[in-house]
Amino acid sequence: MGRIIAVANHKGGVGKTATAVNLAAVLAAEGATAAVVDLDPQGSATSWLGLDADGGEVLEALSDGVPLPVRDTGIDRLQVVPGGTALAAAERRLAGEIGAEHLLAEALGRTRGTWDWVFLDCPPSLGLLAVNALVAADAVLVPVEAHHLGLRGLVDSRRAVEAVQRRLNPQLEIAGVLPCRAHCRRTLHREVLEALEASFPGRVGPPIRENVSLAEAPAYGQPVTLYAPRSNGSADYRAAARWLRERLGG
Ligand SMILES: Nc1ncnc2c1ncn2[C@@H]1O[C@H](COP(=O)(O)OP(=O)(O)OP(=O)(O)O)[C@@H](O)[C@H]1O
Ligand SMILES: [Mg+2]
Repeated sequence: MGRIIAVANHKGGVGKTATAVNLAAVLAAEGATAAVVDLDPQGSATSWLGLDADGGEVLEALSDGVPLPVRDTGIDRLQVVPGGTALAAAERRLAGEIGAEHLLAEALGRTRGTWDWVFLDCPPSLGLLAVNALVAADAVLVPVEAHHLGLRGLVDSRRAVEAVQRRLNPQLEIAGVLPCRAHCRRTLHREVLEALEASFPGRVGPPIRENVSLAEAPAYGQPVTLYAPRSNGSADYRAAARWLRERLGG
């Protein structure tokens, strides 16, 4: 398996799913093979890619030692491990297992797939599923909402990442932070980018602008690059994919 990237921030609605889905779609369109693993009971990545699932099979794969379910999306080279509401029971079902934080890494290990890129779309929490993602990943990408309130929660996300690095996955790399939903003309924008750069020197990705096509695309079950190829959303996620490739290689 190629690069496994956890897309994580415990804050809700910052652009995690948009980032996982659209980076995977851009990389697949450019010829790589990619998968999105939906770890969120909301199932947003699954429905954004035009599928529907209850998440039960993922839960089973984590708890019963079977491979993860892998579905085609109808988009060349892009597959999804579909999540859904059943994942809401993950904490209760899995927390008692010995080494519960390693269940996803194990499940990925027994899942067939030769992807160049795997994106783990985390739920908005620092719970067991998000920790499993950080343990299974080579790198973590943190989308942040590009305004000052968006920066606040970053401290907690960073702390969680560092705890996982210390205790569970010393190999975990911080790929970087990706400013999302950015309003580039506001003065605040600059200050926020400077603050991010100060906290994560050399690891701040190109901003993803607030863009209506990115808000609309999920309802059509398509990545923004298919729904609106010429939109700012498409251009921004193409630039972000280029940045990620340069950061991580591949
Ligand atoms: N740059 C953007 N411009 C406009 N809308 C966006 C942008 N990025 C994401 N959105 C929209 O905002 C909503 C929240 O984004 P998204 O689902 O990616 O966030 P999230 O962090 O995954 O949320 P959650 O924490 O609930 O999982 C979605 O409806 C999405 O379509
Ligand atoms: Mg999400």
